Amino acid sequence: MNTGSTRAGRALRPGFSVTVVLIAVLIWLGSPTWAGAAPAALDLQPGQALYATQCALCHGPSGQGDGPSAAGFATKPSNLADGRLMNGLPDDFLANVIRHGGSVEGLSPGMPAFGEYLSDAQIRQVILHVRSLALPPFRAAAVVPIVTAPRAPTQPIFFSHLIHAGKYRMDCQYCHADARRSEYAGLPSVERCLGCHKIIGALDNPEIAKIQEYAGRGQPIPWVRIFKLPEFTYFTHKAHVRFGLACQTCHGPIERMRMVGAETGPSLADDLKKLVGFKPPPRPLTMGWCVACHRQQNAAHSARAPLDCVTCHH
Ligand code: HEC
Ligand code: HEC
Ligand code: HEC
Ligand code: HEC
Ligand code: HEC
Ligand code: HEC
Repeated sequence: MNTGSTRAGRALRPGFSVTVVLIAVLIWLGSPTWAGAAPAALDLQPGQALYATQCALCHGPSGQGDGPSAAGFATKPSNLADGRLMNGLPDDFLANVIRHGGSVEGLSPGMPAFGEYLSDAQIRQVILHVRSLALPPFRAAAVVPIVTAPRAPTQPIFFSHLIHAGKYRMDCQYCHADARRSEYAGLPSVERCLGCHKIIGALDNPEIAKIQEYAGRGQPIPWVRIFKLPEFTYFTHKAHVRFGLACQTCHGPIERMRMVGAETGPSLADDLKKLVGFKPPPRPLTMGWCVACHRQQNAAHSARAPLDCVTCHH
């Protein structure tokens, strides 16, 4: 019972040891872990050291994209401290870019691949440090994960909605400008892309250089269609968008997709399930999907969505 304290009392003056303990407790209480904020300073140290040796040269000591080598790049090293742009991008995205280089996400190859030099654990440590640089501060709870859409086709240019509509929050209708006023939503013209990309990425990003090549040949970019109804049906964006339905209701969380894709139209598997008595939810762009929403919107929001055959089938 008395052993430990008696021995300590003999070795040190009691007053001194109490002071030491009190100071230690005060330091601990004041540390960010206790406050429930970011990771403890100790956890950040390995990442900070790796950052200083591997990244600061280009991204700058405080992440602002102003390192000593930055001036040499046509596409400047990203400002990793700009929380408004960086905080919404999940760790997966950062890790992918750090491991495989910028090209893996369609970004400039000026961002080198570190997979051969940094272990997965070290990449996690560097990300922890990068997150600590952000202003406004990074909050893990506010991050939305990337969505890997099914059946995404390879497009002629690696255009990422995650970057344009996610990171930079460009409005959907800035590019799909016909959605409010016509049958089609429309895809942006080469000229619209060039409005930004005559400058952004034009010199050192091969994906962006392709835009210039199509423009030079006077060709539209041959995007592969994803959402397509059979010819014998009639659909119009205008009525749906003006009614206030979000694009995502029908197309999914596009702003979180690197590549757009979807399972659409009738499927044999679903037909077989129905034969044996299951009721799979209707797949997007099937007649069941259109009609189920029309019934629901008419009942719940006094919409006047058509249920008669001829409106959807001319
Ligand atoms: C040789 C210069 C260079 C070095 C070294 C470098 N980067 Fe980069 N990095 C770049 C450039 C240039 C870009 C911009 C790519 C773009 O926007 O197309 C970039 C982009 C990024 C991005 C993408 C951010 C965004 O805009 O979405 C991340 C994340 C990143 N770097 C992290 C790191 C980390 C972590 C290190 C150290 C392990 C590092 N970089 C080292 C040049 C560099
Ligand atoms: C900077 C321009 C731009 C912005 C902003 C943008 N898109 Fe796109 N969108 C494109 C391009 C280019 C394609 C064709 C390539 C592809 O499928 O990724 C496309 C394709 C699509 C498709 C698939 C079309 C098809 O073939 O069926 C949908 C759906 C879509 N976008 C919806 C959206 C939504 C929803 C938003 C907002 C969250 C949005 N887009 C923001 C340019 C843009
Ligand atoms: C309003 C300005 C704007 C418009 C319009 C725009 N972009 Fe971008 N785009 C950007 C910015 C900003 C970046 C990020 C550049 C970087 O960090 O390297 C980017 C990045 C890219 C990239 C590299 C990253 C990725 O998405 O894979 C490609 C490729 C690209 N854009 C293609 C296009 C195409 C094709 C169009 C037209 C359909 C288009 N952009 C329209 C601003 C724009
Ligand atoms: C009620 C469901 C619904 C809503 C809401 C909706 N779409 Fe669509 N979208 C579709 C369908 C169905 C198709 C296929 C149309 C066809 O093949 O005729 C489509 C096709 C597209 C296409 C490719 C062909 C085209 O029309 O140019 C794009 C791009 C697109 N949508 C973008 C958008 C955007 C952006 C919004 C929001 C402003 C939006 N959609 C809202 C159902 C919807
Ligand atoms: C998420 C719900 C939803 C889905 C899915 C949907 N619609 Fe609609 N649709 C509506 C609503 C709501 C209206 C009525 C708008 C109003 O009352 O002004 C409407 C109206 C229409 C109209 C009338 C247009 C007009 O000019 O008056 C047509 C045609 C139509 N939809 C076709 C379709 C087809 C074809 C599909 C499937 C490919 C489809 N819709 C899928 C909600 C939906
Ligand atoms: C709200 C729009 C809408 C209404 C109302 C509608 N359809 Fe359809 N219908 C579609 C769409 C979209 C497709 C194509 C997708 C599919 O095959 O599921 C389709 C497909 C079909 C097909 C082809 C199915 C196949 O297996 O190829 C037939 C036949 C059909 N509809 C008959 C009708 C009849 C009869 C009515 C009236 C009782 C009707 N539709 C009402 C939207 C509609």
